[in-house]
This record gives sequence, C-alpha cells and structure tokens, in this order.
Amino acid sequence: MQRIVIAIDGYSGCGKSSTAKAVAKILNYTYIDSGAMYRAATLHFLNNHVTLTNPKDVERNLENLQISFHVNPESGQQETFLNGINVEDEIRSMKVSEYVSEVSKIKEVRTALVAQQQHLGRKKGVVMDGRDISTVVFPQAELKIFMNADLKIRAERRQKELLEKGTLIELDKIIQNLSERDKMDSSREESPLIKAEDAKEIDTSRMDFNEQVNQIVKLAKEKIGN
Ligand code: DC
Repeated sequence: MQRIVIAIDGYSGCGKSSTAKAVAKILNYTYIDSGAMYRAATLHFLNNHVTLTNPKDVERNLENLQISFHVNPESGQQETFLNGINVEDEIRSMKVSEYVSEVSKIKEVRTALVAQQQHLGRKKGVVMDGRDISTVVFPQAELKIFMNADLKIRAERRQKELLEKGTLIELDKIIQNLSERDKMDSSREESPLIKAEDAKEIDTSRMDFNEQVNQIVKLAKEKIGN
C-alpha cells in the first residue's frame, strides 16, 4: 500500500498533537511531534544558559543537542529524550512554554531541526505536526491539514492537559501565553506559521475528538487510495 506524508500545522493548543497521534495509530504510521523537538532544544538552551543572541553560543549548543523519541513500554506513549534523558514532562512546563517561541525563531535552530525532521520522515508513513511542516519541512506532503480553534477553547484544553499532569495554571495565564505564541509564531521572519495554499483547514472549536481524527483519516485514505 502507498505510504504518504501527512503534515498537520496550526496554532498552539488546538489539538494537533493528540489528533496526529491518533491518526498515526489508526493508519499504523509513525507520529513525529516537531513541537517537542523545539521544546527539547529550548530546555537544552535553558539548562546550558545559552545566550540566544550569540550565534556562536547557539551553534555550539546545537552541536551537543540530541533529540530522540521512544515508546514507553508501559503506557504505549511516545516520549521525548534529550541527550538520552526522558524530558517528556519537563518540556511541557510553563517555563519551557514561555521561552520556546524565542528559541524557535532562531534560524540556526530551525535549520538543524528541519534537517532532522526531514530525515525522520524520509521513508514516508509519517504524521508530523507543527507550524511549518506543510510549507518548509514537507512542502510535497501528500496531505496537508491546517488546524485551528478559538483561543479560549484552546486554553481550556491546555489547562486540562496540564492538570492531568498535576499542575494547575490559571486560565488567564494560559490564554496570555497562547496568544503571545500565536503572535510570535505567525509573525516571525523564519518559517512563520501560515496555511499552505493546498492545505485543508479544520476548525476544531466545536468538533469532538473522534470527529476530527476521522475526518483526517478519511482524507488520508482518499489520498492513499483505499
Ligand atoms: O506544538 P507546540 O505548542 O508543542 O510547539 C511549541 C513551540 O514550538 C511553538 O510555540 C512554536 C514552535 N514550533 C515551531 O516553531 N515549528 C514547529 N514545526 C513546531 C513548533
């Protein structure tokens, strides 16, 4: 059966990751969370006190940055590792969320991570989510999706996600963080978040989870031809 690349882009917190993960599971594809890679790079830079405005410092620290994904045998969930250490929970913290847009607008960071993402998807059969997957990482992707949802709904979903991990954050703080990231992600010079011309737009504000997953699976099957 033909294997394709499914690129899912969209604003922070509109359910891209959970949707992409579920789509990958149904199609027996590999899921790649490109946002987790930017988050892991951010954590690495924070841990090493990198001066973001110093290109030499950035490049030196990119050289010793190694990101990988491994499935946890107990939960069956994919987890992110930074230089061999499981950082799955740490990269979702507010501290990393506050810095990630600053780090992800650095050209050298994007060049390094895009190359890794392209390598991970070279054999196709992947669902990758992010901001520039349809436009920069895989402009030839067979299926491109642009997801969106109302800001308040996205914030409520993110709050629930954090709470499930044991952290209660005020809704206003999450709304502020999401709207700042929306602004930075879509106005930055390097690979801003924009809808690819040939991407299908899905607004998930009033959709339930299964509905959004099924819609993408249906589109994928049309492309695969079964
Ligand atoms: O998907 P997320 O919210 O976990 O992504 C975290 C940040 O990483 C987001 O604010 C923007 C950045 N990002 C990016 O610039 N390009 C991507 N392909 C994925 C994420």
